[in-house]
Amino acid sequence: MSKKNVAVIPGDGIGPEVIGATLEVLEKVAPGRFDFHEVAMGGNAIDKYGEPLPDFRLKTCQEADATLLGAVGGPKWDNQPPENRPERGLLRVRSGLEVFANIRPAKIFAPLASACPLRKDIAEKGIDFIIVRELTGGIYFGKHEAFKTPSGERAARDVMEYTEHEIRRIAHVAFKMAMGRRKLVTSIDKANILTVSRLWREVVEDVAKEYPEVKLNHLYVDNASMQLIRVPSEFDVIVTENTFGDILSDEASQIVGSIGMIPSASLGDNNRGLYEPIHGSAPDIAGQDKANPIGTILAGAMMLRYSFEMNKEADAIENAVDEVLKAGLRTGDIYTEGTKLITGSQMKAEIISRL
Ligand code: IPM
Ligand code: MG
Repeated sequence: MSKKNVAVIPGDGIGPEVIGATLEVLEKVAPGRFDFHEVAMGGNAIDKYGEPLPDFRLKTCQEADATLLGAVGGPKWDNQPPENRPERGLLRVRSGLEVFANIRPAKIFAPLASACPLRKDIAEKGIDFIIVRELTGGIYFGKHEAFKTPSGERAARDVMEYTEHEIRRIAHVAFKMAMGRRKLVTSIDKANILTVSRLWREVVEDVAKEYPEVKLNHLYVDNASMQLIRVPSEFDVIVTENTFGDILSDEASQIVGSIGMIPSASLGDNNRGLYEPIHGSAPDIAGQDKANPIGTILAGAMMLRYSFEMNKEADAIENAVDEVLKAGLRTGDIYTEGTKLITGSQMKAEIISRL
């Protein structure tokens, strides 16, 4: 069987730690099946090349079968001009790979139920939903401008724009996903204010006609942020634009216990995805062996499943994570009384020993 070429972007902060752990896990579960190609992106690439993602590095990702990413950014690069910040590298790799659909699962791991900050009667109803976030459009990719008004006052604007086809294709991803689940799509927008949202709603309703078995409802984003903590069990597949999805997925991560636990897959029209945890580079704990590698390890499992159809190996990783949690082993972010606190590298070793 031919080897899979995987572009690997360790990034900044805790990125290299969690990526290092994930590569070891992948090598253990499928020895000799991968060629890893390291790509500098983010702050470390600014230090090395003067920019967060040079063309030739993006090319490595575009030529790979899939890309695995840690996290980028940190205070060291806060003074970079906006167009040269580490995060720009992230946006560039997402758009360069044309991965417009970001899948962020929010599921409560039974052994972590006590880390859920919600009331017991709410958590007990079960939490298992997926956020399908549009990833290459909207305000993050619109025109960004700082300017002066005629009277000389400082002003700024960021443009939110979506075309019909961008909405249509992400809606299809959500409905298809719902067909394999509980057949419920919640589309989240701000159609009471935003013109973009009104178009969003029209197009999503249109797409819904092709999936008569799926129930569609709409929520305004402010209300949705409330319902997610009031009745999280009522959500199955959420579809929303880039910024709303960014914000709501952080909220979702807390609902299920920790941002350190959630992986994500970003997919386009082919199966060359981009896989990353949803957390950032956490510079405050970098280099201290405190970071929870589980989000990235599970992103690795998603890569096996979605890009390489290696479902057995993906299951093995997910089961090993489950076993470790059942054994009561916890990094700091998911630690609760009565469990055992371990380091990031111990967590990695415990997972590997269960593969
Ligand atoms: C995420 C992150 C990024 C995003 C930032 C770092 C640009 O918050 O993946 O959610 O907003 O997409
Ligand atoms: Mg975010």
